Amino acid sequence: MSWHKIAETSTDLFINGNPIVEIDLGEKKVCIIKWKDEIKACAEKCPHAGAKMVDGYLDALGNIVCPLHKYKFNLEKGRNVTGEGYFLKTYLIEQRADGIYINL
Ligand code: FES
Repeated sequence: MSWHKIAETSTDLFINGNPIVEIDLGEKKVCIIKWKDEIKACAEKCPHAGAKMVDGYLDALGNIVCPLHKYKFNLEKGRNVTGEGYFLKTYLIEQRADGIYINL
């Protein structure tokens, strides 16, 4: 695993006000999520049937909700909190003095 800089500031990532964005890191795409003052990251596709998570939304607890069948995933561990038994890959994010980094 290695750290990759993805932006200077969170303002650079969430330019249109949407709290979920998809970014292309060359060999893979990931979703970056803003929840309150935290930034999280997860796989671009739902582990159930491959829907694009960028088209989903966040619930009141900060879980990401898949747009297709509405399964919910905790963004800390990727656990499927609605009980269907799926796991969404998540990635560590660090907000450093010189920018925002993701660990892939
Ligand atoms: S594709 Fe995401 S819940 Fe079915």
